[in-house]
Amino acid sequence: SVAEMGTPDLGGGAAHAHPDHRVAVPDLTEPGDGTPDVRVRLIARSDTIRLDSGQEMHGLTLNGTSPGPVIRAEVGQLVEVELFNESVTDGTTLHWHGVEVPNAMDGVAGVTQDAVPVGSTFTYRFRPPRAGTYWYHSHQVSHEQVPRGLIGALVVEPRGGLDSETTDLVALVHSYGGTRTVNGATGEIPVDATPGDRVRVRVINTGNGPISAWVSGTPFRLAAIDASDVHRPETVTDRHVQVTAGGRADLELVVPASGARVELSGPSLVLGPDSPAERRPEARLDPLTYGEPAPLGFDPERPDRRFDYAIGRRPAFVRGRPGLWWSINGHLYPDVPMFMVAEKDVVRVSITSRSDVHPMHLHGHRMVVLSRDGQPATGSPWWVDSLNVAPGETYEVAFVADNPGAWMFHCHHLGHAAEGLVAHLMYH
Ligand code: C2O
Ligand code: CU
Repeated sequence: SVAEMGTPDLGGGAAHAHPDHRVAVPDLTEPGDGTPDVRVRLIARSDTIRLDSGQEMHGLTLNGTSPGPVIRAEVGQLVEVELFNESVTDGTTLHWHGVEVPNAMDGVAGVTQDAVPVGSTFTYRFRPPRAGTYWYHSHQVSHEQVPRGLIGALVVEPRGGLDSETTDLVALVHSYGGTRTVNGATGEIPVDATPGDRVRVRVINTGNGPISAWVSGTPFRLAAIDASDVHRPETVTDRHVQVTAGGRADLELVVPASGARVELSGPSLVLGPDSPAERRPEARLDPLTYGEPAPLGFDPERPDRRFDYAIGRRPAFVRGRPGLWWSINGHLYPDVPMFMVAEKDVVRVSITSRSDVHPMHLHGHRMVVLSRDGQPATGSPWWVDSLNVAPGETYEVAFVADNPGAWMFHCHHLGHAAEGLVAHLMYH
């Protein structure tokens, strides 16, 4: 197998295949036939986006708006999304960020499908396996199409739907030409809520850098990170939450008589009576120690594979241009590692940034954080699909290779990805 050919990038793990698990075409393309439970048609257009601030810009919309419609489905339901490209000249796709879709539905132009040209349709079909907060976005020339507006929220509810006692809100945070918005709105955004209401706010960061979220006027809990519930989250005050680029954070609070605000690094959601905005608390909530431990369902101490993902910069010529380019384990794109795995492998990856902040995103899987700079995780299992790696930091993460295919593992600062900060996880 390729993994045994001795490429140094493959790391030094005891690589062994599970021969009873070969990748078969149906594994990549399920669910095939079946009547969809949720059916959405999205029309991608080159369009004018108007913000409530009066600002207008040339952007990209889905069904005439950016963000596109919030898609809601329950775990296990068959979701069918028909994407029609009306006028996006570079072609387009949709990627289901964070969802463990079958590989053929992952929406990565050039990897899992061709970009959908103007006048054509592509139909995505998948059954989301886990409840949580997700989003969708173009994965064709994504460093242009995502900032310009080809984005939307996807909420996967537990089987049987959400508990009706909680008001469920999406807060998709996106910048249009430098103006930060929440669900397309700017400034102080009133929300329909009354004192006593329990509210879950699903913060989605679609930008290229981390944002801070915090609550003014009342304590809150960080209920979920990247579509995985935190186990026994404690109630906190005077903490802000860092939301990784591409990542999500679900905040839960009860609206007090005096009202509360969810602050989103610029815009805020105003819940109940108008209450004063508070400054960002100094201290950051650290998911490494937050919540209580719970079983992972696998043993990360006995990995089948170990990989390094060390990000640096290197002087080189790329397409004839001299520059300092992103490197992965010293290599430049496309001469970057293929992390080769077999189905069921337990995989450990050490991710280091030697230069700049990199929100690292793995498609098709969720990873659990084991440590940061040698400090072990002691809180709730911290599952992520998007992990903010600051300069000088090293994270150890682990995951189970349980979704066969060819998956991107890239920086979600989409400009960095366009400059080659991309690797792939490949099953063999
Ligand atoms: Cu949200 Cu490959 O991206
Ligand atoms: Cu980066």
